[in-house]
Amino acid sequence: MNANEQENQNPTPPEPPKIACEVRENGSLLIHGMIDVTMPDGTVVSKGPRTSFCRCGASANKPFCDGAHKTIGFQG
Ligand code: FES
Repeated sequence: MNANEQENQNPTPPEPPKIACEVRENGSLLIHGMIDVTMPDGTVVSKGPRTSFCRCGASANKPFCDGAHKTIGFQG
């Protein structure tokens, strides 16, 4: 088997798309990119292109931000 035949049988997997993470001042953790979120019950929720995760603990829609950080005056 030559190198090309071997490469075709074991192709290098493509690089996953780059995901960026932004910690927002006094707010959420903002993810830029398409992501799959595995919930505690095992279900997978596809999100993107921007997803905000709660850092303050006050969201009624955890793990996602629902804007409650503004009403509680979250600092961080
Ligand atoms: S960071 Fe937005 S609700 Fe917690």
